Amino acid sequence: DRERTFVMVKPDAFARGLVGTVISRLEDRGLKLVGMKVEVLDEETAHEHYAEHTDKPFFDDLVDFITSGPVVPMVWEGEDATRQVRQMIGATDPLEADAGTIRGDYALDLGRNVVHAADHEDEGANEREISIHFDDDDLVSYEGHD
Ligand code: CMP
Repeated sequence: DRERTFVMVKPDAFARGLVGTVISRLEDRGLKLVGMKVEVLDEETAHEHYAEHTDKPFFDDLVDFITSGPVVPMVWEGEDATRQVRQMIGATDPLEADAGTIRGDYALDLGRNVVHAADHEDEGANEREISIHFDDDDLVSYEGHD
């Protein structure tokens, strides 16, 4: 089904000038960009965004990292967009991410892994994450003009 999925370019990739690369890869795959912004997350937003990881040993490092510089939250739309994006991004751990995936080609380590995307196995993740970063009227509708 046609759906919207949440993707966020992380501070490591922003600092390395990889925002355009991430966008190009998703565009090349035929996905449509529906919303995008540049922001520095405050601690509260970071906690909300990574709420499912609150109890993990790496949580504090994760929050420090994700608030350390600009990020680019985006919403992409397309057929099975969530699974398409997950496949293109590759595994969380760069050692397990296949070459040809975004992380397989650019990630430096487990934390600095270029991009975050909503988990397709976590129903409701897209809606939850989109609503943390965007208002409804921040997102365009392509209906009638794509
Ligand atoms: P992301 O898809 O943004 O979701 C949670 C993030 O936590 C994940 O990508 C990794 O960047 C990060 N992460 C997962 N495991 C670890 C770990 N063991 N140490 C540090 N960061 C981790």
